[in-house]
Amino acid sequence: MIIDPANFEGFNRVLTGVVVPRPIAFVSSVSASGLINLAPYSFFNAVAYNPPTIVFSSSRHAGDKVKDTLANIEETGEFVVNMVVDEIAEAMNRTAAEYPAEVDEFEIAGLTAVHSLLVQPPRVAESPVNMECRLKQIVPIGEGIHQHGLVIGEIVLMHVRDDIIDGHRINHDRLHPTGRLAGNMYCHTADTFQMVRPAYQPDTERVG
Ligand SMILES: Cc1cc2nc3c(=O)[nH]c(=O)nc-3n(C[C@H](O)[C@H](O)[C@H](O)COP(=O)(O)O)c2cc1C
Repeated sequence: MIIDPANFEGFNRVLTGVVVPRPIAFVSSVSASGLINLAPYSFFNAVAYNPPTIVFSSSRHAGDKVKDTLANIEETGEFVVNMVVDEIAEAMNRTAAEYPAEVDEFEIAGLTAVHSLLVQPPRVAESPVNMECRLKQIVPIGEGIHQHGLVIGEIVLMHVRDDIIDGHRINHDRLHPTGRLAGNMYCHTADTFQMVRPAYQPDTERVG
């Protein structure tokens, strides 16, 4: 099957079905007036080491409502990415309804907001990794009701729970990161394996 995205109804479901599994950024932010917000975003990844940079993409609208996360980050330039792990996956899901800005999703999810050190938005205490971020840029993608904002943020401070880090090594058996598939489907990431990356050796690999 060959798919032309421009002429395939529901292409978004195909796209999110094939780019899998996606990590889930649980983004906390605060509005200029002080309202706290928390919501999951799986159009998310780390994209550079120096400066340490993450991106996530939010649609601007959910129906008639403007998404709080994007609006808050535009207003204040700060946010925290809390990693979603299996232990908080259900709590994460509870925050994903289109609540009005006045609703504090920490309360909805029964999660604990703890203060951050360099930015105003609080961290999720139950998440083993919190990245305090400052906004670098929001790149608009698309137009009108379909518009997304690609949020580019620099990590200014990272909190990692002691038991999941040994030197530079993150212990994934303890981290339990949750993967997003399409729609309501998720995956655990416990079934891991190793592959050693080959080094190019010009003398032995020359052909002919
Ligand atoms: C696992 C998961 C991942 C999501 N990823 C995205 C995403 O990448 N971009 C997006 O615009 N919405 C995404 N959503 C939907 C938002 O979380 C939802 O619209 C939420 O209500 C936005 O909240 P806010 O208005 O407080 O920012 C996702 C929902 C779930 C459950």
